[in-house]
Amino acid sequence: MKRAQRKLEHIKYALELGDGPKSTHFEDIRFLHNCLPEVNPADIILSVEFLGKQLCLPFLIDAITGGTDAVLDVNAKLSQAAAQLGIAMAVGSQYGAVRDKIGYASYEVVRKYNPDGVVIANTSALATPEQACEAVKMLNADVIEVHLNPAQELFMGEGDKDFQGLLDNLLRIRDGVEVPIIVKETGCGIAAEEYARLKAQGFSYFDCAGAGGTNFPAIEAARYGKELTSDFAGWGLPTAWTMLDGAVTLKAGDTLIASGGIRNASQAAKAFALGADVVGMSGNVLRLIQAGGVDAVVAYFEELSNQLANYLQLLGAKAPKDLRKVPVIYSGETANYIANRGYELSVLSKNRR
Ligand SMILES: Cc1cc2nc3c(=O)[nH]c(=O)nc-3n(C[C@H](O)[C@H](O)[C@H](O)COP(=O)(O)O)c2cc1C
Repeated sequence: MKRAQRKLEHIKYALELGDGPKSTHFEDIRFLHNCLPEVNPADIILSVEFLGKQLCLPFLIDAITGGTDAVLDVNAKLSQAAAQLGIAMAVGSQYGAVRDKIGYASYEVVRKYNPDGVVIANTSALATPEQACEAVKMLNADVIEVHLNPAQELFMGEGDKDFQGLLDNLLRIRDGVEVPIIVKETGCGIAAEEYARLKAQGFSYFDCAGAGGTNFPAIEAARYGKELTSDFAGWGLPTAWTMLDGAVTLKAGDTLIASGGIRNASQAAKAFALGADVVGMSGNVLRLIQAGGVDAVVAYFEELSNQLANYLQLLGAKAPKDLRKVPVIYSGETANYIANRGYELSVLSKNRR
């Protein structure tokens, strides 16, 4: 299977399959009404500093595509939307491109339309440091995401099934590139155990990419006409849970991108409450860009931001980060999850990170 063909099939099946089947579990989290919020909407600031640059809104169009001229137009439009909104954008994996020296134009177009914004390179954890440097150089990228996707690789016919040595290679990549490195999942989440292992090695930027949105094991199975068992169809840590694991493991100096099935302001507000620095989205943005182009993506993020500001004001918060200190209530499977993991419910109800 050619990489270019695979990129097109990922788009096709991501659009066809949509989100799930499991949920993000943000629905198990509830904000408490604050009857005395004392916030003037004029004082609400959604702009955040991210990687030394200022984003107008605390959002990221997360990794989707690149690598073939057939997707150049998708990346061009996504980049125009990101530039117009003042939000960050990551490209899809550049691993095949830097390995085979092909498809650069479909990535370079992202920097072309967003010369001053935060642009994020993306590669596999199998990349050599030289390949990672080449990916960064291609975009004059501010940072590089290195993705971990064992569940996807397992169900991908042509996937890389040997998962040994990836942590060592992450260290080699980190030592070889001149920009920060974000360790990123692709829709199955990062558990506290792996946050801790990565932190012990000095990693401090994470993109949790939890389950509940785009489902790569399901996409790979569909590409090969295979059925997944219900276990594997719903594999992964729901986004709310991987964020709770982040909340108990990560410290003030760490950076967490929340992603995985975040589609509306309620979920975004809860992601900020659980400790997100920035909220990333892919599958829904892909749908919007294909159906309505740049205008549809811009309108979506503007409306999302208006609604997020409503949450902040009602909860007495002036910035997304302030939501980490507002009280929340956990119910259902998420309350069970907290108990099973031995986390302090009373602490996580009051304060995350
Ligand atoms: C069509 C498509 C292709 C993707 N390709 C990549 C990729 O190359 N590298 C990567 O790190 N993540 C990739 N992702 C995963 C997303 O960046 C994101 O982590 C995941 O889709 C969860 O977010 P979502 O539920 O908002 O889509 C891709 C997502 C989609 C929809």
